[in-house]
Amino acid sequence: MLVIKKVSDIRSSEITDKQIYLQRRRFLRTAAVATTAGLIAPSLLIPTPTRAGEKLTGVRKSAYRVDEKLTEYEDITTYNNFYEFGSDKRSPAKLAHRLKTRPWTITVEGEVDKPGVYDVDDFIKPHTLEERVYRLRCVEAWSMVIPWVGFPLADVIKRLSPTSRAKYVSFETLYDPEQMPGQRPGLFGGGLDWPYQEGLRMDEAMHPLTLVGVGLYGEVLPNQNGAPLRLVVPWKYGFGFKSIKSIVKMRFVETQPGTTWNLAAPREYGFYSNVNPNVDHPRWSQKHERRIGEDTLFSPKRKTLMFNGYADQVAGLYAGMDLKKYY
Ligand code: MTE
Repeated sequence: MLVIKKVSDIRSSEITDKQIYLQRRRFLRTAAVATTAGLIAPSLLIPTPTRAGEKLTGVRKSAYRVDEKLTEYEDITTYNNFYEFGSDKRSPAKLAHRLKTRPWTITVEGEVDKPGVYDVDDFIKPHTLEERVYRLRCVEAWSMVIPWVGFPLADVIKRLSPTSRAKYVSFETLYDPEQMPGQRPGLFGGGLDWPYQEGLRMDEAMHPLTLVGVGLYGEVLPNQNGAPLRLVVPWKYGFGFKSIKSIVKMRFVETQPGTTWNLAAPREYGFYSNVNPNVDHPRWSQKHERRIGEDTLFSPKRKTLMFNGYADQVAGLYAGMDLKKYY
């Protein structure tokens, strides 16, 4: 069936602006000359899609998928926490187009054999992209089911080869108040200390569930969801915690690193931030959650599951730990 989109159906992300179009034409012209001259292998010439909404190619399905109704694309991309663009859920979708995601680099430093400044496309290229359907549970007691596209963080870490002294890895988001108005002084961005930072214990970072996300619904990640790349750690609270967006730095360290929300409100947000219905937030219960998209006045709330339903895979990481103390 031929589907013809009405103008109102076409997302602004699907429209290629003139500059990008001209850039692509220039790229293709240069590429044509280079291949004819035998300078570049044709397979390396396929430009990686980089703009929100562009289809990602070569994405394989994976066994990592929960069998639950997917949250609508519209909800995933308009109900966001990205304080760099304001603390209101609707601000990131309105303001994140300001973020320039190319060129983009990721600095790798600390206890690692291959430190350096990596271009984001070189960083992504060695990895096969796969689709994984995960639950996201926010500490604010809402949840979604999201079809991410990405690759295991463990594969990145193996490639970078940390030293035996590396016990944790910390991550940082871009700091640029010009592009990210929430980072300017004032309360628009929640008054946080920038840049936003997060950390994982090395075994958490190496766990097969931990993903570097570069897309959703088979398309390049929209800026408000953390383009060009972010973490996705499905057994931890998304809010303020582990699923850090728009990463520019990874640092391998010996001691537990600071995290933005733990530094801002240590009594409310711990380093581990594992989804746990038995440990309430000081200001609200964590026993239930509302699923975005099905939260009418009459829909019953869902029970929150230990480790967000991933206990079989991850409970062993915390064996013997008092999860009330290490929340
Ligand atoms: N990363 C950065 N840099 N800044 C943020 O404010 N918010 C976190 C996390 N990563 C946040 C961030 C929160 S609070 C959540 S719930 C998830 O991103 C939300 O991801 P989503 O907007 O894609 O659903």
